[in-house]
Amino acid sequence: MQIAIDGPIAAGKGTIAKQVAEKLGFLYVDTGAMYRAISVLCDWDRVNKTDEAAVCSLIEKLTPKLELRPPTENEQDGRLCTVILEGKDVSWEIRSEESSRGSSLVSKYLCVRDYLTEIQRLLAKNQNVVMEGRDIGTFVIPDAQLKIFLTAAPEIRAKRRRQELIARGLNPIFNQVLKELIDRDNQDITRPLRPLKKAAGAVAIDTSDMTIAEVVDKIVRLAKERLKYGWPKR
Ligand code: DC
Repeated sequence: MQIAIDGPIAAGKGTIAKQVAEKLGFLYVDTGAMYRAISVLCDWDRVNKTDEAAVCSLIEKLTPKLELRPPTENEQDGRLCTVILEGKDVSWEIRSEESSRGSSLVSKYLCVRDYLTEIQRLLAKNQNVVMEGRDIGTFVIPDAQLKIFLTAAPEIRAKRRRQELIARGLNPIFNQVLKELIDRDNQDITRPLRPLKKAAGAVAIDTSDMTIAEVVDKIVRLAKERLKYGWPKR
């Protein structure tokens, strides 16, 4: 079974997708982590992320090896998944503010999207997955048996994002977090190539007034219903 979860920043996709995957025994795939890894790769090679041709030739030259897997016992440090790029553990390096900005830039390029989409489709073909991102239900696995579009009010998402940053030892100003979140939302929604939008047939869930456990339960229930009774055709 394939479950596709899309939505804007800090809608709770990561935490929720991971818990749904654990409850169902499926593989959790964080596709945002893959875009972040490409940003890190550009930094390693000092490639200017605003230069599309340079980013594309780097990918063509390296065909970077990217592995996503559940954290092992020794890696239980709060990460949702372990990300290995060219043999190096970058699970935390990809979470920097620079890679947030960088991933937003490189995710606009067709060469990057095509390269990562192929990896994502292969993962989804070979096992049961809960895959989260921006274009999963619309483009990567449009025939997924369950598609979810998670949203929450921008102020609530900014509050959650600020809490995450505080937990990492930072102390950002709320208005600054809100502004950056709205800017990145706009980039994801307005980019011409595979922008963030609700997929046909996706179930929209507004998580503003729901707990994580409530959202997880709702998605697990929907998944079990679809496994039992089948799912509507697109
Ligand atoms: O979910 P995230 O914040 O880790 O994603 C990082 C960036 O990658 C974000 O700017 C949107 C982009 N992204 C994308 O374009 N398509 C996806 N399927 C996942 C993420």
